[in-house]
Amino acid sequence: MKNLLKLKHLYKLKEAGVEYFEGFHSKDSDIKMPKELDELKKICINCTLCDLSKTRTNVVFGEGNPNAKLMFIGEGPGAEEDKTGKPFVGRAGKLLTKIILNVLNLTREDVYIANIVKCRPPNNRVPTIEEAETCKVYLLKQIDIINPKILVCLGKTAFMYLMNNDLPISKVRGQIFDYKEKKVIPTFHPSFLLRNPSARKDAFEDFLLIKSLL
Ligand code: URA
Repeated sequence: MKNLLKLKHLYKLKEAGVEYFEGFHSKDSDIKMPKELDELKKICINCTLCDLSKTRTNVVFGEGNPNAKLMFIGEGPGAEEDKTGKPFVGRAGKLLTKIILNVLNLTREDVYIANIVKCRPPNNRVPTIEEAETCKVYLLKQIDIINPKILVCLGKTAFMYLMNNDLPISKVRGQIFDYKEKKVIPTFHPSFLLRNPSARKDAFEDFLLIKSLL
């Protein structure tokens, strides 16, 4: 657990009237997580570890091929995703689905799609570091279980929180980074492509690179 999170939990305990706390004894490695995606989902959809759980309608765990070679990571659910419990089903999702189909010649069922945070941040704000770090426990386990060859970070937030690298997406897009034995390729978020059609040419090149690595 990150120090910032420990501090936050300590303040919560203090607010709740706890006067003395013996200390944290467990390390991240002590936390037992299931080895099956379905089991992980069961835990995740009941999660109340951060405040996003108070305002969500549905947890958006992620979906797709549990043996996918290619996994997409977005920022967090929007309104449509919160309503349906499915990732990337709104306008940005429709564009992502088209790119997967037309550039990669794959379907959504061939790949796996997840997000940094599984609950919608109010008004679609960027998830805070506490929210991202708390929720990353689930994402990292998803990556572990699915074991994809390539991780595509959609937009700056996904790349920043997965790789602890806050360079602008325009600087890192289309480059290949390493995460464990996997290749990580950041590219523009589809919402950005909807607002900035001129960036689609660069995104197209990034997707050709992804295709060549599959
Ligand atoms: N934007 C994201 O980052 N993720 C979604 O699931 C939908 C929109």
